[in-house]
Amino acid sequence: MLFVVAPPTSRRMFDQLDDVHVDLTNRLIRAARDRRSPMHTPAVVTSDVDARTMVLREFDSQAWTLRFHTDTRAPKVAPIEADPRVAVLFYDKGAKIQIRARGTAAILRDAEVTRSAWENGSNFARRCYMGDGPGVAADTPTSGLPEELEGTEPTDEQLQPAWENFAVLLVTLRELDWLYLAHTGHVRAQFAQGDSGAWEGRWVSP
Ligand SMILES: Cc1cc2nc3c(=O)[nH]c(=O)nc-3n(C[C@H](O)[C@H](O)[C@H](O)COP(=O)(O)O)c2cc1C
Repeated sequence: MLFVVAPPTSRRMFDQLDDVHVDLTNRLIRAARDRRSPMHTPAVVTSDVDARTMVLREFDSQAWTLRFHTDTRAPKVAPIEADPRVAVLFYDKGAKIQIRARGTAAILRDAEVTRSAWENGSNFARRCYMGDGPGVAADTPTSGLPEELEGTEPTDEQLQPAWENFAVLLVTLRELDWLYLAHTGHVRAQFAQGDSGAWEGRWVSP
């Protein structure tokens, strides 16, 4: 089901912090569900001062978690496991809304969520986890895949070793920053999750 969040038409739509929180929540829901959403491929920033584009696979608006998929051999895994603080940056140019989210990340190998994500993927999607891991040096331009799998869909049997390389990167959000660029004056709000799990918001100068 497509989840549509219309671009704002006026900054008056955001007179209340609750309105902003609802907008922010709906944009993250759409970002995960709709591959055409400009927020579907945010930048994920790790504690080693590196950033990369990743596909947002799921947003759980109850647990406030973002699900991404990664290769366990990727360079981003070690810094995340050493220091799990991450930021995730979204921008929707049409809506003129930026969302900056901060939280803690976990690399989940062989977890239930990982198994179910693997089972729901196509063999073409699972093929990304075969061959050389991300960042392995090569003498020529390469996909890292074994030659026989270039341009073909692997069989279930061929894919068996790839499961070992697949993990879920789960980010639990704790801080949110929402900025709307309006020609009548930008609007910005921040939310932090208290110990009770409730979000507390405040307006800040853009
Ligand atoms: C549009 C786009 C989507 C991407 N999606 C993912 C993804 O879902 N998971 C992932 O690990 N890398 C994804 N990548 C590749 C990463 O940006 C990055 O190159 C790779 O994960 C290696 O990152 P690292 O060296 O920081 O570990 C994507 C790249 C692009 C351009």
